[in-house]
Amino acid sequence: MAMLEVNDITISYGTRPTVKNFSMSLEEGKICSLVGESGSGKTTVIRAIFGLLPGAGKVTEGDIIFAGDHLLNYSKKEWRKIRGTEMSMIFQDSGAMMNPTKKVGAAYTEYIRTHENISKKEAVKKGIMMLERMRLPSGDNVMQSYPFQLSGGMRQRVGIAMGMTYQPKLLLADEPTSALDVTTQAQIVRQMMELKENYGTAIILVTHNLGVAAYMSDHIIVMRNGVIEDQGDRDHILYHSENAYTHKLLEAVPSIGGTRYV
Ligand SMILES: Nc1ncnc2c1ncn2[C@@H]1O[C@H](COP(=O)(O)OP(=O)(O)O)[C@@H](O)[C@H]1O
Ligand SMILES: [Mg+2]
Repeated sequence: MAMLEVNDITISYGTRPTVKNFSMSLEEGKICSLVGESGSGKTTVIRAIFGLLPGAGKVTEGDIIFAGDHLLNYSKKEWRKIRGTEMSMIFQDSGAMMNPTKKVGAAYTEYIRTHENISKKEAVKKGIMMLERMRLPSGDNVMQSYPFQLSGGMRQRVGIAMGMTYQPKLLLADEPTSALDVTTQAQIVRQMMELKENYGTAIILVTHNLGVAAYMSDHIIVMRNGVIEDQGDRDHILYHSENAYTHKLLEAVPSIGGTRYV
C-alpha cells in the first residue's frame, strides 16, 4: 500500500459538493502536483488530507489512508500527534500566517515545545539549526526578528523550516512559491527537492504554475471545477496529453529568455 491513499473522496462546505470523486496515491519520496485555475478545489483537497477544512467543510464520502491509518476516523488527539511531525503543511504566504507581534524565535520555539518536551534553550538551538538548513544566512538573527523585518523569501523559508522540523513523511505545500520573485522561487523549489532527496519526504504541491509542477513532479493531477480533469506522470502530461484543458494550461506557461520551461 502506498504511504497515502485517497479513495474517491467528496468534500463539501454545504449542500453542494465542492470536490467530487477525487482519488490519488503517493509513495515515499515522490512529488505529486495539483494544478488548475483558482477555485478548482486544490486547497480544499490538501486541507482535507491535513484534517483542517475550514468552516463547515467536511469529507462526506470516501477514505483517506495515511501510513495504514484511516485519517477520517482520527480524533483531535490523534491529529495533534501527527500534525507537524508525520505530516506538515506549508502555506502560500507563511508571512501572513505568522503573528506580527511575535519574534520568529518566540513563535518557533513555542511550536517546537508543543511537539517536544525540551527546554527553551534546546528549542532555540533546534530552531536555529533548522533555519540554517534552509539556507537562512544567520539563523540567530532571524530568530531575533519580527516577521515584517524579513523578506518574503526569508519568511517562506521560515515556514518551510518549521514544516520540516520533524522531517515529516508527507509535506503538503500550498502554492509555496507564488508570492515570491522568480529567483527566490527557484531557490525554494530546489530546497524542496533536497528535502525529498535527503529525507524521502513525499510532497503534494499545489500550484497554478505548470512550469514549477513540470520541474518538480513525478505525477501531475489537473483539476477543474472540483474534479480531476486530467492526470498522469509528468511526461505524459507535458508531452502526450490529449486533454484540451491541459493544453491550455501548458500554453499559459511563460517562457523565460525564449525557452519555455516545459
Ligand atoms: N471556507 C470555505 N467555505 C465555503 N466554501 C469554500 C471555502 N473555501 C473554499 N470554498 C469553496 O471551494 C471552492 C474551491 O476552493 P479552493 O479549494 O480554495 O480552490 P483552489 O485552491 O483551487 O483555488 C471555492 O470556489 C469555494 O466555492
Ligand atoms: Mg488554493
